[in-house]
Amino acid sequence: MLERIRELIGEKLGDLRFEVLLADPPAGGEVRGHLSTNAAFPFAKQMGVSPIVAAEELKKYLEEKGADFFSKIEVAEPGFLNFWLKPEVIREEFERIVGAGKEWGRPRKTRKGFAHGPRGKAIVEYSQPNIAKPMHVGHLRSTIIGDALANILEFAGHEVIRWNYLGDWGTQFGKVIAAYKLWGDKYEVEKTPVEVLAGLYARFHEEMKQDPALEARGSEEFRKLETGDKENRELWEWFREESIKELNKIYKLLGIEFDEWKGESSYRESLLPLIALLLERGIARESEGAIIVPLEKFNLPPALIRKSDEGTLYLTRDIASLEERVKNYQADKVLYVVDNGQSLHFQQLFAIAEILDLKGNFSHIKFGLVLGEDLKKLSTRAGRHIALLEVINEAVERARKVIEGKQPEMSDEEKKEIAQVVGIGALKYNDLSQSRVADITFDWDKMLSLQGNSAPYLQYTYARLKSILRKAGNTPSLEVGVIGKEADLRLILKLAFFPEVVKEVSESYLPHQIANYLYDLARAINDYYEKEPILKAEESLRGARLHLIKAASETLKTGLGLLGIGVVERM
Ligand code: ARG
Repeated sequence: MLERIRELIGEKLGDLRFEVLLADPPAGGEVRGHLSTNAAFPFAKQMGVSPIVAAEELKKYLEEKGADFFSKIEVAEPGFLNFWLKPEVIREEFERIVGAGKEWGRPRKTRKGFAHGPRGKAIVEYSQPNIAKPMHVGHLRSTIIGDALANILEFAGHEVIRWNYLGDWGTQFGKVIAAYKLWGDKYEVEKTPVEVLAGLYARFHEEMKQDPALEARGSEEFRKLETGDKENRELWEWFREESIKELNKIYKLLGIEFDEWKGESSYRESLLPLIALLLERGIARESEGAIIVPLEKFNLPPALIRKSDEGTLYLTRDIASLEERVKNYQADKVLYVVDNGQSLHFQQLFAIAEILDLKGNFSHIKFGLVLGEDLKKLSTRAGRHIALLEVINEAVERARKVIEGKQPEMSDEEKKEIAQVVGIGALKYNDLSQSRVADITFDWDKMLSLQGNSAPYLQYTYARLKSILRKAGNTPSLEVGVIGKEADLRLILKLAFFPEVVKEVSESYLPHQIANYLYDLARAINDYYEKEPILKAEESLRGARLHLIKAASETLKTGLGLLGIGVVERM
């Protein structure tokens, strides 16, 4: 329906860009129409007339061509067009929504297949913690945002590879190995690997201040690791395995899974040939014993790809990995979900990809810091792996209290299950409902509130809808003919926009747009069933409204699912 309306306007406007939006009531005022468009503004520019004149012209055109669609078109200052749709148009749309069921929201295929790259394959790289070090809040944000984007791209028709690019290579592991050989204890490492290894590393740095010779010792251990020394190799593998076990505890709680766990270490063999090739093709050159790629052409500082001590770098490994992603994985989109702080790194990486003629759509999906009481506390305890698990557990505990207050009669078992879904949901939603590029705030009360823009509010709305459906028993087959009241029509229109929001986010990579949509939808539903009888409505209307409630509940569930958030049937 929305596509058809856009096509109609597009026929008049050609390539000009415009929007068709849901007409929302102005604060305190009355809504004018079901939909509105700003199409007259670009049109006016093109024609060299005022927006009002253009709007009048467009109105005339649409009244004639869109006679099947619109029951009324109005021009509003300073040049907007408001439309009222014919009820039958909205009813037809409702039949499509009900017919799609759980699939509602999936962007439609275009005639040329999905409107994506030729292969439609996307690599979403997220989480990327470093081994032998605690996972920090930045990794948590990456995990939550990356998982949501992977879900959304998949839903929109891409083949998605979820990639955890572990930080498991680099000179720091020489230091960890040296420290372990000096002061380590096998039993201690087994007990709390990440905490102990991170502690050893910190101690190594501390003692280096007194004993500068340690530095060389660390480099030597790394050199041995790189050249395949058996003992170092085994130590490194052990550290890696133990770290992954601990990381998996966090992923399990968050419900996160990856397809690929390839980290920096996977590229250690490809680095020397890569550097040689870059030199040979004149892309890289020597500079004071090191090797750099000049990037003046891109207005960027030169990229260091080999240090004067012959050590390779984080960036070198990224170049090798991106090449593999394009050539072997045949990805045409690669998303790197990494904090704002690494902007320059990715600019350099993408510039080098261009020089190497690697084709694809590469994006650094940036995000800001987390601000707020608890996270400040968390970062001061940053040395402790436990800290992140503590935050997750606290979310679940606090959710448990909310459930306790709401449903004291429930069994302990059920309360526990619900608290898990609600607590984790609250944590994720807090992140995903704020624009990712900015710093986000962390406020327990707001996160767990049953009233505001929070996961518990959406989950609670969902559970309420399900409870209505349970009470109703079977939903009769749909007779759309009885739908005519504005309240019903407007709710259907809201649902009609869901596929658009999904499509939009699959291009903007901004999950908060889905969160905002769901919050809006939940408010609209709550408002609707406070005012309109459903179970008590007259027989055939009751049936149609039950379908509406069902479609709304499914949309909430699908939307939350895209954000990686679960629902519960009662709460
Ligand atoms: N492990 C890195 C860190 O903790 C993030 C890796 C980001 N991804 C990449 N391809 N460079 O800072």
